[in-house]
Amino acid sequence: MQEYMMHYKGEVRTLPPDKSISHRAALIGAIAEGTTEIWNFSAGFDNQSTLGVLRACGIRVRQETVTADRGNTVRKVVIDSDGLWSFTKPEKKLMCNNSGSTMRMFSGILAAQPFESTLVGDSSLTKRPMRRIADPLRLMGAEVELSSEGTAPVVIRGTKSLEPIHYELPVPSAQVKSLVTFAALHAEGESRIIESLPSRNHTELMLGLRVECLADGRWAVVVPGRMNVPAKPFHIPGDPSAACFIIALGLLSPGSEILLRDVCLNPTRTGYLDILDEAGAEIQLENIRLTRGEKIGNILVRYSPDMHSLRIGDPAMVANVIDEIPMLAVLSACATGRFELHNAAELRAKESDRISAVTNNLGRLGFVCEEFSDGFAVTGKSREVKGKVSIESYDDHRIAMSFAIADKVLAAELDISDAEIIAVSFPNFYEIIESFAQ
Ligand code: S3P
Repeated sequence: MQEYMMHYKGEVRTLPPDKSISHRAALIGAIAEGTTEIWNFSAGFDNQSTLGVLRACGIRVRQETVTADRGNTVRKVVIDSDGLWSFTKPEKKLMCNNSGSTMRMFSGILAAQPFESTLVGDSSLTKRPMRRIADPLRLMGAEVELSSEGTAPVVIRGTKSLEPIHYELPVPSAQVKSLVTFAALHAEGESRIIESLPSRNHTELMLGLRVECLADGRWAVVVPGRMNVPAKPFHIPGDPSAACFIIALGLLSPGSEILLRDVCLNPTRTGYLDILDEAGAEIQLENIRLTRGEKIGNILVRYSPDMHSLRIGDPAMVANVIDEIPMLAVLSACATGRFELHNAAELRAKESDRISAVTNNLGRLGFVCEEFSDGFAVTGKSREVKGKVSIESYDDHRIAMSFAIADKVLAAELDISDAEIIAVSFPNFYEIIESFAQ
């Protein structure tokens, strides 16, 4: 590796609020009876898209900025609803922009509403697979139409009499698990959603649902039908997937020491910390506590010059770290010149085809990559790259941020296309990095 210009020391108190929990808090607020206050809601474009589609369906949503603990300014969202069937037929198509979570999870609620609605997205979202949401909703009795490629627009003709379902998830997807859960809350009887590889479990925790461990080791989420969801406040912790970028910056930059406060440490999200720990990264977790079922704590990260290369292939681990893989790959390549990934075909169905996106961009930086159908390997560096290099973000926030971190730690000067896409999940990304650069 080359000479470094910067090191990073300080504290991050304003990590973006967790994107997954923010989406769910807004959707649960919209089906709960009464007023839901959501403290520290995310300003990211994806979460704002969820608020947008709720408003378009007649839900009253207010946002204000308030001063919270330690003088931080946070965004508070207040949602008023009369319960499961408070939605009105939208006058226009529901624009989900870049947000797969908005399109997929809100579909579960729309399937139970007695009107037709159409969900659309930007060019990236329009390429993403939606049969996985149409299949269970059709089994429950909703009519769902997709394009001939199985993508958006998603047209839903909902019904108030959805059937309960026993559904085995064909892909380990928390979005699909959540959309079936949201639909099942409205159904006329108890549903069971079964997963063999655990995916993030925020929806179950936030709704207080029972989760059973089956004799064969799989898990079943049990959803009572026609569930009365009481309105309650939510406090959104920091996003561990956003933290991963800052952690990579600290691990790779000599002399760095960064403290990230109040991060969600739910074990279905923090597999990447275990992977990094095993590889010799200096990361400490502090002040860990449990708040309404979610584990939260501080992360202290120090420059770690002796890390080994990462190899990820266990399917359960792949499901756990699915959003962090681009950053882990770039981190491992920058630190050691090597990285290996298997059993991760799902990465091709994200905001971009992340297998091609990462290998193509690493190739531009002189790394030798081999692409497989379900992963890739980085086997070393063929040449040093100095000066300006163009990097393609593929309109994918996590690709743009992974290479923005590479830009800080490599000698080359990276020119990342459409880097403003970062605001999808991390609007203050550059501001935070600059605030503790020394
Ligand atoms: C998410 C689940 C994951 C993840 C996405 C957010 C969620 O997608 O990649 O960024 O909040 O449920 P899948 O459920 O499709 O794996």
